[in-house]
Amino acid sequence: MIAETHLLKHNLQKEIVRLKKEKNAVILAHYYQEPGIQDVADFVGDSLGLSQQAASTKADIIVFAGVHFMAETAKILNPSKKVLLPDLEAGCSLAESCQEPDFKRFLKSYPEHVVVSYINCSAAVKALSDVICTSANAVDIINAIPKEQPIVFAPDKNLGAYLAKKTGRDLVLWDGVCEVHDAFSLAKLLGLLNQHPSAKVVVHPESDASILGLADFVGSTSAMLGYVGSSKEKEFIVATEAGILYQMKKDFQDKIFIPAPAKQNNSCACSECPYMKMNTLEKLYDCLKHESPEIKLEHQLRERALAPIHKMLSITNKSRSN
Ligand code: 13P
Ligand code: SF4
Repeated sequence: MIAETHLLKHNLQKEIVRLKKEKNAVILAHYYQEPGIQDVADFVGDSLGLSQQAASTKADIIVFAGVHFMAETAKILNPSKKVLLPDLEAGCSLAESCQEPDFKRFLKSYPEHVVVSYINCSAAVKALSDVICTSANAVDIINAIPKEQPIVFAPDKNLGAYLAKKTGRDLVLWDGVCEVHDAFSLAKLLGLLNQHPSAKVVVHPESDASILGLADFVGSTSAMLGYVGSSKEKEFIVATEAGILYQMKKDFQDKIFIPAPAKQNNSCACSECPYMKMNTLEKLYDCLKHESPEIKLEHQLRERALAPIHKMLSITNKSRSN
């Protein structure tokens, strides 16, 4: 049975690789995707890396192995290309927490504020924003805004609180959280640290302040990989979605990675994003074969959502070339 499953997986992967060549398609995958998907992807990365790849690809078709807002961002950047998402229902609790009509009403109370939105939001919310950020460039984006300028930050209140502390700015926060990163258990993490006293704790900034308080390093998924790669330490407790552990173990085989435990008991004693895990190799194959489901966006909405994404990419390029 295990051999059969392995063969099925191998054949699917072979077919996916053949189809993507035949169709001049590129597969962009987030680190939270299942290992079999990461292995057939042309690029695996964090939200910033993925949007930079989407902005520069020469492929005719972009298959986004991630969640809806990521594929939608790729479509905003590439209106003439076909952008496919293996499961259109793959959403995001953060994006869901911030609906455009509510956000529009909220912003009426802050007419003088610059609106910075985390990339984990819908195109409609992006269209109401002045600049987008990801966890990898959020500090640079906030620091690029003049000190006297008040700021609204949406939709992640944990990331927002972390940024306020890190930049010394007083941010008005939208009340949203990621259901995965907000669910790490402080008590279980302290217990784990007791068992592994020399382990370094790496935490994603979407996590609650109590978890961030125990971090030796805070950063985006790519930054976490950079940190564990450059650290001399051997053991790491990783507080983000468990999919990243596949890449960590692959890249750093001499190190030990322990997933930070969630409050609820679940099958893997780790944290998995149910939306990211909606994509499977089978769905990826079907979507590439039938070129569906496809992301569609109305022209005017796309134009309005594009400006704050371009602003983010240009601030990031500038601050990284300095
Ligand atoms: P990054 O990979 O950009 O750090 O984002 C994490 C995340 O939760 C994506 O949904
Ligand atoms: Fe959204 Fe959280 Fe899942 Fe990322 S991990 S897609 S922020 S629900």
